[in-house]
Amino acid sequence: MWGGRFSAQPSDIMRMINASVGFDQRLARQDIQGSKAHATMLAAQGIITQDDRDAILSGLDAILAEIEAGAFDFSDELEDIHLNVEARLKERIGDAGGRLHTGRSRNDQVATDFRLWVREQLDWMDTLIARLMRALLDQADAHADTIMPGFTHLQSAQPVTFGHHMLAYLEMFARDRGRFADCRARMNESPLGAAALAGTPYPIDRDATAAALGFDRPMANSLDAVSARDFALEAMAAATICATHLSRLSEEIVIWTSAQFRFVALSDAFTTGSSIMPQKRNPDAAELVRAKVGRITGSLTALTIVMKGLPLAYSKDMQEDKEPVFEAFDALDLSLQAMAGMVADMVPNERRLAEAAGAAFSTATDLADWLVMRLNMPFRDAHHVTGRIVAMAEREGVTLDALSLEQMQSVELGITEAVFDVLTPLASATSRTSYGGTSPERVREQVARWRATLS
Ligand code: ARG
Repeated sequence: MWGGRFSAQPSDIMRMINASVGFDQRLARQDIQGSKAHATMLAAQGIITQDDRDAILSGLDAILAEIEAGAFDFSDELEDIHLNVEARLKERIGDAGGRLHTGRSRNDQVATDFRLWVREQLDWMDTLIARLMRALLDQADAHADTIMPGFTHLQSAQPVTFGHHMLAYLEMFARDRGRFADCRARMNESPLGAAALAGTPYPIDRDATAAALGFDRPMANSLDAVSARDFALEAMAAATICATHLSRLSEEIVIWTSAQFRFVALSDAFTTGSSIMPQKRNPDAAELVRAKVGRITGSLTALTIVMKGLPLAYSKDMQEDKEPVFEAFDALDLSLQAMAGMVADMVPNERRLAEAAGAAFSTATDLADWLVMRLNMPFRDAHHVTGRIVAMAEREGVTLDALSLEQMQSVELGITEAVFDVLTPLASATSRTSYGGTSPERVREQVARWRATLS
């Protein structure tokens, strides 16, 4: 492509370090989409003839068909997807192929292709997150009044509902979806027509190519257009945060499926057996989703470091932008799909959850609140009295609601039979009716709200 200036061939190592077609062939469809928009605009502006445009458009379609059929011979000597496609175009249509690159450079070309690719990924993540949210919503709906222990420090704290726990994740994923949407809105500007860095003397129409590619407008500064990669960083930052949410839910699933917890059962579809221990059912999908966040965060870090300190405008460093982004979105794609499958198939063990919800004096706060509300005790005193009653139950080896009224009265005389109404896990969760609280009533309201939003 630059034989005019060069007389010797690059060394093999130069070729190896320089070639990106091994990975950027994933941009083939976007590259051809961008080239078609460019050629159409060139003809509309009278920069190339209608005949050349027609030859270019049908040539590009044929090349895309070859690539999709696996019949395209990618060559490292032609460096990247852009030069591979262009060379093949010249092979197929002759001279007209050489006119496609008028008024553009690989710098605005790759920036355009990559934006189109990332934008498609953002849309796909939106679909996948919505799917996962619906799976969480169905579980929340079915288990709005399934009582389970709520934890702080992974110690039993207060009873909550399983539905409430599912909706907590639904809220996180809704924000992830919002972050991807924000990123999409900000990135949806076209670099095409910025050319190498300074713009072009040809009378191109950047509004037309932007519109043809679904961008809201052309980018306003050609130097920025060819060298901005913050859209990819932002997409990966959103991906990283989403992956942390997936990782937290995975961790809970790993814990919940253990023999010690038995809170939920996973389906055969998302577990594996052991080659040596016949009794095992391992939550591999959850473990792998838990781990993928490492790869995704690593990708964000990799590109952040590539971009830091790069002077304007394009530098070849930026060719290193693609693999981390591909890797991050491949990992997130799989993770979201695996998680949606696990959540949809997961069966909560209601008896076991109820039993665990009552353990570890989980209604102690309810006892203290009762003392405040019924006996008008200052909360600090109520906390102290409750602590003594818990100590007594611990000595006796029973739950709070299994103590007798006399035993409680030996600590606080004012306690009456009515206290037993608040000491069960169900009563505890049901009483938490504040907005955003765990009571089945509040959970059902949230389920209805999300049902309306997600349908
Ligand atoms: N393969 C290159 C990349 O991914 C395309 C742009 C090449 N531009 C250049 N000035 N050499 O960045």
